Amino acid sequence: MIRHAILLSFVLCSLFTSCGEKESCAADSRPKIYNPNGDSELALLMRDMFDEGMRVKEEVATGKRPLPAWDADAIFTAHATQPEKVATPEFKAYAQSFLEAARAMEEASPEDYKSTYQGMVKTCIACHQEVCPGPIVKINKMLLDESESL
Ligand code: HEC
Repeated sequence: MIRHAILLSFVLCSLFTSCGEKESCAADSRPKIYNPNGDSELALLMRDMFDEGMRVKEEVATGKRPLPAWDADAIFTAHATQPEKVATPEFKAYAQSFLEAARAMEEASPEDYKSTYQGMVKTCIACHQEVCPGPIVKINKMLLDESESL
C-alpha cells in the first residue's frame, strides 16, 4: 500500500512538472505544457540574445568592441510563456539593470570591453536566478574565463 502511494506520487510529480524548478524555464526549455502553440516572443528574443551573446563573446575575447545586434528593449514588451512572471516589479528591475549593463558595455573604452561584457552576462544570470533558473547552465557558457585577467 505504501509502495503504491510512493509510486503514485512519483507519477503525479512527473505529470505536474512544478516539482522543482522545471516549468517552462527548464534548461533549453521548449515550453510544452504551458505553450502548445509554439515558443513565446520572449523565449525567441532570449534565444536570439544567447546566440548574439556567444558571437560577441568571441569578439571580446579577441579584443574587439562588444556590439550585439539584439533588440534588447523588446524585453519589456515581448509576450512571455507565463505572463505573470514578467508582470512584476522584480522582473522590470532586473530587465532595467540588464539594459544598463548592456549600454555600459557598448560604450566602454577598450580596456573595459571584457569586464563590462562579463558584467552584462551576470545581469542575465541575476534575473534568471530569480524568475527562470532552467537556462542558467546554458547562459554560463557566455561567461569569460575569470582566471584570465578581465
Ligand atoms: C529581466 C529578466 C531576464 C533577463 C535580464 C534575461 N532573461 Fe532570459 N529569460 C527570462 C524569462 C522570463 C524567460 C522565459 C521566457 C518565456 O518562456 O517566455 C527567459 C528565457 C531564456 C532562455 C530560454 C529560451 C527558450 O529557448 O525557451 C534563454 C536561453 C535565455 N533566457 C537567455 C538569456 C540571456 C543570454 C540573457 C542576457 C543576454 C537573458 N536571458 C536575460 C528572463 C530574463
